[in-house]
Amino acid sequence: MDPVRNPYAPGAGQRPPELAGRDTELDGFDVVLERIARGRPERSLVLIGLRGVGKTVLLNALRSAAVRRRWGTGKLEARPDTPLRRPLAAALHQAVRELSPANKEDADHVLGILKSFAMKEPAPATTTRGKSTLRDRWQPGIDAPAVPGRADSGDIEIDLVELFTDIAGVAAGAGRGIAVFIDEMQDLMPDDVSALCAACHELGQQGLPLVVVGAGLPHVPAVLSASKSYSERLFRYARIDRLDPEAAAQALRTPAQEEGADFTEEALTAMYEVTAGYPYFIQAYGKVAWDVAPRSPITADDVRVAAPESESELAVGFFGSRYERATPAEREYLRAMAEVTADLPPGVSMGDAGVATSEIAVLLGRKPQSLSPARDSLIKKGLIYSGERGRIAFTVPHFGRYLRRQAAD
Ligand SMILES: Nc1ncnc2c1ncn2[C@@H]1O[C@H](COP(=O)(O)OP(=O)(O)OP(=O)(O)O)[C@@H](O)[C@H]1O
Ligand SMILES: [Mg+2]
Repeated sequence: MDPVRNPYAPGAGQRPPELAGRDTELDGFDVVLERIARGRPERSLVLIGLRGVGKTVLLNALRSAAVRRRWGTGKLEARPDTPLRRPLAAALHQAVRELSPANKEDADHVLGILKSFAMKEPAPATTTRGKSTLRDRWQPGIDAPAVPGRADSGDIEIDLVELFTDIAGVAAGAGRGIAVFIDEMQDLMPDDVSALCAACHELGQQGLPLVVVGAGLPHVPAVLSASKSYSERLFRYARIDRLDPEAAAQALRTPAQEEGADFTEEALTAMYEVTAGYPYFIQAYGKVAWDVAPRSPITADDVRVAAPESESELAVGFFGSRYERATPAEREYLRAMAEVTADLPPGVSMGDAGVATSEIAVLLGRKPQSLSPARDSLIKKGLIYSGERGRIAFTVPHFGRYLRRQAAD
């Protein structure tokens, strides 16, 4: 059918034509916002799940919900080894601007505090000269005179508590709230995690309307509780998983119907077999199936014809791009994991605890300690995660299957 009208959208963070099966989280978040607006104690939401299940697009949808309530919102993506201070300042800057408090004096004051906060970033210990000059010249782009003496001690925990309190105070004065969205939360640095928890804890106690909403890989809870044991009382973890058959059908069907097309029931069943309900796969297979189908409705045959092309596109865009980030030693580790997981039932999801790292060592005939560097850097690259001690799992659904096929070729 006409590729120009193809509604499907495979790609990281690509807004799907239909956000299917996430009503529980969306409704739950409305309750969170309403309670926080009323100064009630409420745990914030952190979306956790494997790669490509739709955490980022759901986080964006939650942000839209906050915007609809005229809250000030800002978003950032955590990156490994990158301090939170500057990206958070940029996100909060956006949030305060969206809030556009009626009282300009209040706004300028809080922006001034934000500026001091942003400029307090300690210079990194090891940088080349060129880089550090660039950093020295960095300016937060905040159009207000800096207000020194608040949120600029250099201790991120103290500073965040002060900054959040002041910004939330302005929002409360305007009868609204602030929501900060942090994607890839597992990549936050330990000090920053502690500081965020401490600040959220303080705000909760004061009943101030500022909420931090997160998304990340399945081991985010472990990352947060390693820094602050009380993190479980601050955040409610919502597992974002593959879609059930009804939601998967809706994700395919609604966009097709909007273009005057449809799928047969058999086609939807065939689609669920190949995608296992993983949102990224639904978009990828849906896109090719639409293009190869000669006419509506799309049939099970069309899905079969589309499968090889869908798979090769996923092999490049979804699996290959990640595999390429691994060094030879890391690839060896990944392939060993794939072999060990070969016996697991299809559609291994994060509910599964993965495999024992000791099994991988046995398979490779190596001492477990000698494999730690490869394992740790794969975790840092976000390709694998460890939800419990001594066990390891792929963050990418069907990655084991992809690696085994590749080895067979
Ligand atoms: N609820 C949904 N219904 C239909 N399609 C969806 C849904 N959620 C996500 N998608 C699609 O799945 C793909 C992946 O979404 P997204 O990038 O948000 O995943 P993610 O969990 O953030 O992945 P990563 O861990 O790699 O960042 C996108 O193409 C998106 O359009
Ligand atoms: Mg994402």
